[in-house]
Amino acid sequence: MTDDGPLALHTLRAGEPGGVPLVLLHGFPLDHRMWLDVVDLLPGDRTALAFDLPGLGASPAGEHVAAALGLDAAPSIDTSAAAVAATLRRRGVGRAVVAGLSMGGYVALALLEREPSLVAGLALVDTRATADDDAARERRLRVASEVEARGDLEPVLGMRTTLLGAASRAERPDLAQRLATWMRDQGPAGVAWSQRAMAARPDRSELLGRAGVPGVVIVGEEDEQAPVAGAREMADALVAPLVVVPRAGHMTTIENPEPVAVALAELARRADTA
Ligand code: MLT
Repeated sequence: MTDDGPLALHTLRAGEPGGVPLVLLHGFPLDHRMWLDVVDLLPGDRTALAFDLPGLGASPAGEHVAAALGLDAAPSIDTSAAAVAATLRRRGVGRAVVAGLSMGGYVALALLEREPSLVAGLALVDTRATADDDAARERRLRVASEVEARGDLEPVLGMRTTLLGAASRAERPDLAQRLATWMRDQGPAGVAWSQRAMAARPDRSELLGRAGVPGVVIVGEEDEQAPVAGAREMADALVAPLVVVPRAGHMTTIENPEPVAVALAELARRADTA
């Protein structure tokens, strides 16, 4: 347990007291810092809170998070979602506009399924609602074993470029450098736990049609990990706008943060009046 609850929760911006905060869930294998640029550009003065998911950033190992919540020890995105809910409640947050990028999106969907009353609005960013196929699942389990056996992050460091779009790869070496720094700050155990949790996640496509909350789907136009076609299908199912971010791949929040910030502020406005 941290002082915040099961997970570390960072106040990136302390806004109007009493308002519905924006809650940000990061991707793999990173931590809350991948949201900093977006929060800097966020219109208005809404509170922005960003999590470190189990085993990453300043959060405890997944096994400890599960034990603190009395949950099964097996790595699970549902454990992450339960820990997000418990931490928010401990902070006195009963409703939030929730934005999740990639792995964070898997957690946001699990949160919506488990704790619908907590979710005032949902932003799915560079993510999918579908489960992995067998090949992807096997790849994750292999990578989990490799990082544990080696005791370093070498098996995932290639993601510092594959997560970026072609424009960033060609013109923004600083972004790959930033991703590498953030990745190297993560521990092998947290990376392995996250891979196993993602491998075990179910298909939540069907949840989108009955979500019943204001939503937005955001995707980089050059996202190779969660491409635009899948994002369009999610937006149609969620009956939500689709925002395609130019000159960005899978890391829209650092490659082109401004359209992401504008879309989140617009979602929060809709959630306030829903
Ligand atoms: C992420 O950015 O969180 C990863 O691409 C998620 C995944 O491996 O599915």
